[in-house]
Amino acid sequence: MLAIAVLAAGKGTRMKSALPKVLQTLGGTTLLERVLKSCQQLNPDRQLVIVGHKAEQIEKQMKDHINLEFVLQEPQNGTGHAVKQLDKVLQSFKGELLVLNGDVPLLSSETLIKLVTEHRRKKTSVTLLTALLENPTGYGRVFANEEGLVKRIVEDRDCNKEEKKNNLINSGIYCFDWQSLRKVLPKLNNNNSQGELYITDTIGMFESSRHIEVEDTNEVNGINNREQLSICEEYLQSKIRNHWMNEGVTFIHPSSCTISDNCKIGRDVVIEPQTHIRGKCIIGDSCRIGPGTFLNNSTLGKRVNAIYSVISESTVENDVSIGPFSHLRPGSNVSDRSRIGNFVEIKNSQIGRSSKVNHLSYIGDTKLGAEVNIGAGTITANFDGKQKHKTSIGDRSKTGANSVLVAPIILGQDVTVGAGSTLTKNVPSNALAISRSKQLIKESWIKISPP
Ligand code: UD1
Ligand code: CA
Repeated sequence: MLAIAVLAAGKGTRMKSALPKVLQTLGGTTLLERVLKSCQQLNPDRQLVIVGHKAEQIEKQMKDHINLEFVLQEPQNGTGHAVKQLDKVLQSFKGELLVLNGDVPLLSSETLIKLVTEHRRKKTSVTLLTALLENPTGYGRVFANEEGLVKRIVEDRDCNKEEKKNNLINSGIYCFDWQSLRKVLPKLNNNNSQGELYITDTIGMFESSRHIEVEDTNEVNGINNREQLSICEEYLQSKIRNHWMNEGVTFIHPSSCTISDNCKIGRDVVIEPQTHIRGKCIIGDSCRIGPGTFLNNSTLGKRVNAIYSVISESTVENDVSIGPFSHLRPGSNVSDRSRIGNFVEIKNSQIGRSSKVNHLSYIGDTKLGAEVNIGAGTITANFDGKQKHKTSIGDRSKTGANSVLVAPIILGQDVTVGAGSTLTKNVPSNALAISRSKQLIKESWIKISPP
């Protein structure tokens, strides 16, 4: 049997944030979710999260995760005190307890599998994950012999000068034999610089404690402040980009782009500089995104070009061209072979296939048919000050430059709207609608005086 327990009750004082530390995000996913995800391949029988500071907020955020058990630690008297709270919920449990720090989010599943496997093979009371760091400042130091047996862990702030030179650090990830751990937990004391119960003090209480060293030291980066958060983000981003490069995606200037880890990107996609892909995005083969484009929770078909544009919670089908400087707001759906051009805003609207909205338009709450041509500066006036209203424009219709369509309004198929018209009434199919004052000419308005 395997139980995992994530320590997530601390305040995260050093983050200086209103948000509990484990709810900070990396690559668009919270630290806590990342830690839990890294354990999934182990198929744990129990999944416990120890919460305290802003416990309700954390529980609410994690409500969609099935099989999570929250254990309250109140007040928060250190990592050892946190693990002590498990005694009430794991009384009859027998097997391994994998303890993870909620602020160590870059662990790979492979590393955790290795830790648990090694622990089971060696049959010790605890196996902990360590790393040799060039700069071990801030981490607990692990004192071990050449056979991998650990004597004790001393926290950075409790180390003397000599001890500080040891650069073998504690990652905060431990695989315990739960029943052995239970027996030593009552012996913990708070005789340290923080006056807290440290889980690290249990290590010296067992007959044998072992450690294994992580291969990639980046995996055990802990996050206590924003600087460390940014270091982890940078590492993660380069990992995500390298992954997609190996899947056939070209990055023109990789380090200027960010991508969340919930995306899917097709083959022969080119990501131009300064492009950011957030949330859950799907990008089809042979798209060209950017430069300077922001995508959020959107789906793009094949061969879509999007340059200097923002696309949010929208769907774009195949062979569509977007931008430069277009804004697709939530609920927009652009069909095959359409074109959304310069300085155009689309909101909650369907754009039929092969339609064009090329210049300076606002299209909101609108259903546009196929092969429609929206003239420069056409606006759907969808808001009457109180409510939003809908516009419908049939296939092959054309609006002249600077038309205003006051919603609710329906234009049939093959309608032509004269430039500069403000329409407030429906237009039947095949009609021409013009609504503007007639041009007046007054000749010799400027009197030419004789020389
Ligand atoms: C801890 C380890 C240190 C290790 C480092 C790795 C201890 C005493 N020290 O130090 O050896 O090198 O992690 O990153 O364990 N937490 C609770 N309840 C509490 C206090 C903390 O749940 O009462 C949680 C925090 O939310 C956090 C984790 O435990 O997720 C670690 O706490 P933190 O204060 O960050 O420990 P470090 O000083 O980083
Ligand atoms: Ca920490």
